[in-house]
Amino acid sequence: MPIHVDETHHTFHLQTDHTSYIFQELAHGVLGQVYYGRKIHVEPSYDNLLTRELKNSTPAYSLAEPDFQLDAIKQEYAATGTGDFRRPAYQVTQANGSRITDLQYDHYEVLQGKQRLKGLPSTFEDASDDVETLIVHLTDALIQLDLELSYTVFPHQDVIVRSANFKNHGVKAVTLDSALSAQLDLPDSRYEMIQFSGTWARERHLVRTPLRSGIQSIDSIRGTSSPQQNPFMMLARPETTEDTGDVFGFNLIYSGNFLDQVEVDQWATSRVLVGINPSEFSWCLAPDDEFQTPEAVLSYTASGMNQLSQQLADFYSKHLVAAKYRRMERPILVNNWEATYFDFNAEKLLKIARKAKDLGIEMFVLDDGWFGHRDDDHTSLGDWFVDPKKLPDGIGAFADQVHGLGLQFGLWFEPEMISVDSQLYQAHPDWLIHVPKRRATPGRNQFVLDFSRPEVVDYIAKLMGKVIDDTKLDYIKWDMNRYITEAYSEGLPANRQLEMPHRYILGVYQLYERLTKAYPDVLFESCASGGGRFDLGMMYYAPQAWASDDTDAVERMKIQYGTSYGYPQSMMGAHVSAVPNEQTGRMTSLETRANVAFYGAFGYELDISKLSGEEADEIRAQVEFYKRYRSLYQFGKLYRLTSPFEDDGNVMSWMVVDDDQRHAIATRYQLLSRPNAPYLRMFFKGLDPDQRYRVNNSSKTYYGDELMNAGLFVNKIFDETATEKSLADFYSQRFMIDIVD
Ligand code: GLA
Repeated sequence: MPIHVDETHHTFHLQTDHTSYIFQELAHGVLGQVYYGRKIHVEPSYDNLLTRELKNSTPAYSLAEPDFQLDAIKQEYAATGTGDFRRPAYQVTQANGSRITDLQYDHYEVLQGKQRLKGLPSTFEDASDDVETLIVHLTDALIQLDLELSYTVFPHQDVIVRSANFKNHGVKAVTLDSALSAQLDLPDSRYEMIQFSGTWARERHLVRTPLRSGIQSIDSIRGTSSPQQNPFMMLARPETTEDTGDVFGFNLIYSGNFLDQVEVDQWATSRVLVGINPSEFSWCLAPDDEFQTPEAVLSYTASGMNQLSQQLADFYSKHLVAAKYRRMERPILVNNWEATYFDFNAEKLLKIARKAKDLGIEMFVLDDGWFGHRDDDHTSLGDWFVDPKKLPDGIGAFADQVHGLGLQFGLWFEPEMISVDSQLYQAHPDWLIHVPKRRATPGRNQFVLDFSRPEVVDYIAKLMGKVIDDTKLDYIKWDMNRYITEAYSEGLPANRQLEMPHRYILGVYQLYERLTKAYPDVLFESCASGGGRFDLGMMYYAPQAWASDDTDAVERMKIQYGTSYGYPQSMMGAHVSAVPNEQTGRMTSLETRANVAFYGAFGYELDISKLSGEEADEIRAQVEFYKRYRSLYQFGKLYRLTSPFEDDGNVMSWMVVDDDQRHAIATRYQLLSRPNAPYLRMFFKGLDPDQRYRVNNSSKTYYGDELMNAGLFVNKIFDETATEKSLADFYSQRFMIDIVD
C-alpha cells in the first residue's frame, strides 16, 4: 500500500520502497508540503516537519489568524497574489480581470494502477508493480473552478509522477496564464542544481552550480525541448557523488516549451517548479472545458546520482516505453546520410546495402533526399513522394530490393516541415506557420507546418501512411530540424494565439499516436538536428533518439555520459562514422569509435561500400561482437566510473553489468596520451562482491570485492590487443568481466 491517508488530519503520505512524499491540508483548504526524502514512518500528522513560524512583516491569512502566513509555509501547489510572493504553480485570469483564486482542498480518491493521459504521452501501470494513484480535488467556490492534483506512486522505482487538471464548472470562461505540472517546496537550499546544457552538436553537457538566493531556471521557448537545455534536472547536496548522498531528479514528459525553476526565498527554502513554460503559453478554459498538464517525474535517492539514473532507467523501461521495446534488442543499422548526403541513386544505395548485409548489419536506413526533388535543403519538405530521378522504380520497389537482401528498411521523414519550394506550399501556403502580412523567419532554409491544425496533421498522416504501406517499412527516423518562430495559427482566434505552441506539440503527439497505433511494428527514432528533442515525451513514442549530429568519438563521450544521467543507454542512437570526423575534423581509431557507440542503439554512418579490406574485416568483427553483447550494452545497469566533466576531462570510463551480475563490460577512454603517466587502477562497480571474475579472459580470477574496492592494476600490456596503442591519443580499452562458474 504505497498511499496512506490520515482521515482526521488529511495527511497524505506516499511511500515508495525507499522514499516518503508527504503533504497535508493546513487551514482553509491550503495544502502544505511536508516532506520529500528518505522513507520515514507513517504518522497521523507531522507538526515537527511543517515549516510554519511567525515572521514579522509577512502578510497574514486574515486579521484573526496572524500566524497563518502563506509566504512562510511550504505549499503543495501555490496560488499567486494572496501573500505568497514566490512564483506560483498556476495563475488564472477571470472574467473580471482578477488573477486571485482560492482553490481549497475538497476531497480525495485513491485508484489502483495508473491510467494513461488522453492526447499526451504519459506513464502507465505495469499490473505487477503495485502502482497506486492519489487524486486530490480542490475547488474555488466563487468561480467554480476545480483542480485535480494527481500523484501516481511507483514504489519499486522510487518514482512519483504528478500532474494537474483544471476543470471549469463555472458559467464564464477563464484563462490559464500558467499551469505547471509539479511544485516542490524544500525546507532548505543547500543544494546544487545539475543541468544538461549545450547546443547543436554539443548536447547535454553537465553543469553543476550551487543554488543561490533568487530564481534560477532552465527553459525553452523554441517550440521544442531544445539542445540548449534538457528538461531533466537534479538537485543534489554539495557532498553528493555518483555513489553516495541525497539527490532529487525532475523531468517532464513533454517535448515543447518547458520550465524547470528553483526559487530560493528569503528564509533559504527552495521552491521547485516543473512544467510547460508560462512564457509563450495561455489557455482559454470555456465553461465545461478542462486542461490537463503533462506529467512531471520526481525521484529521490539517498544513494547518489548513479542510483538515481538506474532507478529512472528502470522506471522508463517499465512505465513509459511501449512494453514491446522494453528489452527488444535494437537493430544494427547503416544510415546513408554522412555517406552520400543528397547525392545518391538506387545503385549507390544498393551498393551500401549489399555491403551492409555482407558485414552483418541488419537494417538499411535511407536518410534525407529521397522525396520531391530534394537535392539540397532548400526544397520539397512536405512532398512525401519519391524523387523519380533518384529512385525511378519508386520507393516501394527500392524497399523491396533492400528487403530482398535480407535487411530491414528504414526511412527518414521530417513530417512537421514545409519548404516554400514544394507542391504542399503551392496548395496550402497558409499551413506554413507565420503571421499574415509579416516576414516569416526561415531556419535551415525551411519553415514549420502548423501542426496545431488537425487538418494538417491528418494530411501528413495519410501521406506517411501511404509510404509506410508501399515500403512495408520497419523503421522511421522522424527528424525536426528547426525551431518555431512567429508562433501564430490562422486556425485559432485572437484570444487563443498563446495556445498555439502547446497545440502544436499536441498535434505532433497526435501524429505519433496515429502512426504508432496503425503501424505497431515500425520502430521510431526521434531526432531534431541530432539531440534537440531528446525528452520523455518523445521516448513514449520513439524508444530511441539520435543523440547528436556530432559523431566524433571524443565529443560523443561527453554527450553520451551527460545523457546517461537522465536517460537509458538504449535510447541513445550512436553511430560509427568516418574520419576525419565531419564535425570536428578529428582522427580516432575505428576501435575507439565503436567502443563509444556500442553503449547505445548502435549503427554505422559512413560509406561502407568504400572500406578497405582491413576496415571491412574490423567492422564485421565489431558487428559480430556487438550482436553477442548488445543486450548487455543496451539494457545492462550502467555505472559511471570516471567523468569527462571532472578534473581535466582527459579520461572517461563507464561500465554495464547484467541483471544477475555475471557479465560486465567496462570501457576506459583516454583523450591525450601522457608520458610517464601515473599508475592506473580501474575500480569497477556493480559486481557481486562474493563471486570470482576473470577480466579479459585472464588466467587469474578476482573476487568482485577486490575488483571494486582495491581495483585492478592496469598497465599498458594488460590488454593483449593494446600493445603500443595504449600510448596513443584517443585510445580506448575494453574490459570484459565474466563470472567464474
Ligand atoms: C538532421 C539530422 C541528421 C540528418 C539530416 C538530414 O541534421 O540530425 O542526422 O538526418 O538532418 O537532413
